[in-house]
Amino acid sequence: MKVPFLDLNAHHQPIREQLDAAIRDVIDSSAFAGGPFVAAFEREFANYCGSNFSIGVGNGTDALWLALLALGVGQGDEVITVPSTFMATAEAITYCGARPTFVDIDEQTYTMDPALLERAITPRTKAIIPVHLFGQCADMDPILEIATKRGIPVVEDACQAHGALYKGRKAGTMGVAGCFSFYPGKNLGALGEAGGVVTNDKELASKIQVFRDHGQERKYHHSKVGWNARMDGIQGAVLSVKLKLLDVFNVRRHAHGLHYDQLLGDLQEVIIPCEAAYNRHVYHVYAVRLKERDQVLQALAGKGISCAIHYPIPVHLQEAYRFLGLGEGSFPVAERCAEEFLSLPMYPELTSEQIQAVAGELKSCLSGRKPQSSVAK
Ligand SMILES: Cc1ncc(COP(=O)(O)O)c(C=O)c1O
Repeated sequence: MKVPFLDLNAHHQPIREQLDAAIRDVIDSSAFAGGPFVAAFEREFANYCGSNFSIGVGNGTDALWLALLALGVGQGDEVITVPSTFMATAEAITYCGARPTFVDIDEQTYTMDPALLERAITPRTKAIIPVHLFGQCADMDPILEIATKRGIPVVEDACQAHGALYKGRKAGTMGVAGCFSFYPGKNLGALGEAGGVVTNDKELASKIQVFRDHGQERKYHHSKVGWNARMDGIQGAVLSVKLKLLDVFNVRRHAHGLHYDQLLGDLQEVIIPCEAAYNRHVYHVYAVRLKERDQVLQALAGKGISCAIHYPIPVHLQEAYRFLGLGEGSFPVAERCAEEFLSLPMYPELTSEQIQAVAGELKSCLSGRKPQSSVAK
């Protein structure tokens, strides 16, 4: 059986008519850049998250960048994040003229290890960005406690965690700002590029609104040098349709995660993801860990099972960040995980038979391998 890593056709087919109608409405009203459809989605998403404000922007990278700019992060500053993330988290820091610094991840949740945070803070630290990797929130209470004590704002990278819960609180609502990507494959995905910031801080919200629209508070009155980071109308309209289904999609993803856990949990060679007791994971990515991951990936591809790696190189070891001078061994947990992560197919429309096929093929790949030491559980 062939199992794609992601099936956006299967995802959109049942709501195709609603999506077509939403796009038609935008074309009929010519509200393409910003406008009423974006404003409506902003209200709905703020309401969904339980935030006072939501600002639609061009993508998740813009969301992070503009949130940092609005907080006044600039030249000579440092912003702490994790090396186990998509490059965009660090890029947003660099775009502000600041320097990304890193804290290793916790080996159970793959998110920022709060025990390592305090020692990474310097007088130049202007913000902290925990990343809710794979759809599970970082352990926010200790992170917020340390940050609050030092007066450092926390910006959540919730780009993979729409609707995830931490002790009953929604991802993106615990720090001063929460940043989302609505890239098509995300739990809440547009039909193109889009992103958003949620916040309860009115002043921060209006600064981000100004930055995303060429620094203008009124048409052709530019108080700042901003950027064009507006969300487009078609994405706003489409996201309004899909937001209504987000919880249903997340429930299905969670059930698929549990199904994989059941089928793979007994395998010595495999570490399954850990959902912390205080979290509600939304499984944007279902990543297992195993040795000789690249061989397994190839073998599964040969059987028609498409997997992925998130991410093969931690950010501090990327060529683009060589200038930071952080060599191998700087963040051992992130580095080990990058060698072992294997993301299995995960999307709401995945069937039980497909999950069984993935688990079955993975088991047969592992049993066909030469004996090797198993990954420490
Ligand atoms: C953790 C994380 N941060 C930031 C981003 C950037 O979002 P975008 O691709 O919408 O710019 C992504 C998207 O892949 C992400 O996964």
